[in-house]
Amino acid sequence: MTRPTSADIKQVLFSAEDLQEAVQRLGKQISEDYKGQKVLLVSVLKGAFVFMADLARVIDGDVEIDFMAVSSYGSAAKTSGVVRIIKDLNSPVEGRHVIIVEDILDSGLTLTYLLKNIQARNPLSIEVATLLFKEGKQQTRVACKYIGLICPDEFVVGYGLDYNESYRNLPYIGVLDEKVYT
Ligand code: IMP
Ligand code: MG
Repeated sequence: MTRPTSADIKQVLFSAEDLQEAVQRLGKQISEDYKGQKVLLVSVLKGAFVFMADLARVIDGDVEIDFMAVSSYGSAAKTSGVVRIIKDLNSPVEGRHVIIVEDILDSGLTLTYLLKNIQARNPLSIEVATLLFKEGKQQTRVACKYIGLICPDEFVVGYGLDYNESYRNLPYIGVLDEKVYT
């Protein structure tokens, strides 16, 4: 069998409809919380690109977007905690309301690093919006105000999330079959 294909997905965790529902809810919440204020959405490439695009479109208000690309050293399915900035922000964040838009909060190591990094640039405020929150996995406590969906401790792909750069285009989020790893 040729890979990757949707046949590599063992179980669909969140359908496209589930994801849209979660995104709508977060967009509404953010629109209310930042009423009358400009917000800078900072997305972490590449995994959060789909979530970012959908979230930005359901926020009713003045929104700017920017991107950062980071790479965590380690294997494809495991974070090492060492983060390297591959692409930095184009916009200055001093005096701005910033929301970091993440695909998934797993160990929390990537976000902890990013929060510290952006906080050092003196934003007016900084919050985190994560589409998925892997319960019980956080090695560091991350204050995450906006959480889309709680995810079981499985390796998931789709809706931006990858395994070895594949499966990002799946419109849903699913658990990858172990046979793919072997
Ligand atoms: P953390 O530093 O362990 O919180 O993980 C951060 C990054 O690892 C995420 O932004 C994802 O890119 C990636 N990641 C963590 N868990 C998964 C998963 O289940 N599927 C795909 N990527 C993941
Ligand atoms: Mg990744």
